[in-house]
Amino acid sequence: MERTLIIAKPDAVQRGLIGSIISRLERKGLKLIGMKMATLDEARLRTHYAEHTEKPFYAGLEQFMKSSPVVLMAWEGFECVESIRILVGSTNPRQAAAGTIRGDLAIGTGRNLIHASDSKQSGAAEVANFFNDDELFGYDKSEYEHVYEGHERE
Ligand code: RTP
Ligand code: MG
Repeated sequence: MERTLIIAKPDAVQRGLIGSIISRLERKGLKLIGMKMATLDEARLRTHYAEHTEKPFYAGLEQFMKSSPVVLMAWEGFECVESIRILVGSTNPRQAAAGTIRGDLAIGTGRNLIHASDSKQSGAAEVANFFNDDELFGYDKSEYEHVYEGHERE
């Protein structure tokens, strides 16, 4: 099973959209295995956004991501990294498909509500970065037989 780190960014917290974001992922059939609130400091953001620190938008991104608490979530599911990226939509919400979280709920690229891991490897690494082992929960989900075929949940 793949893991994805989701961050409901400060705009999602400020706009009261945390529930909508969680709801969309729950309705997909994915399993929430960890969740907590945090204020992200500079060091954490530099590690998380290592690929972007030299880019012109980074200073604004860091400032924004520190501006209020965020909600960190770890989600698990069969090939969930790609399917969550599709649910989240394009980075620029004005180009994101209708029906996606960004397409339906956001306008500005720097106010796109949500972070989602972009590969299986980054999903595993980002979840490990933000959650200790004792903050992650393995449990049986009773609806699984109605969400997955057998081989998909092994
Ligand atoms: P994320 O990492 O947040 O899931 O978003 P993403 O993969 O779709 O976008 P990425 O290219 O990784 O960029 C990370 C975040 O930086 C902000 N950004 N601003 N002003 C700009 O040109 C610009 N480009 C990116 C966005 O908040 C984006 O989510
Ligand atoms: Mg990204």
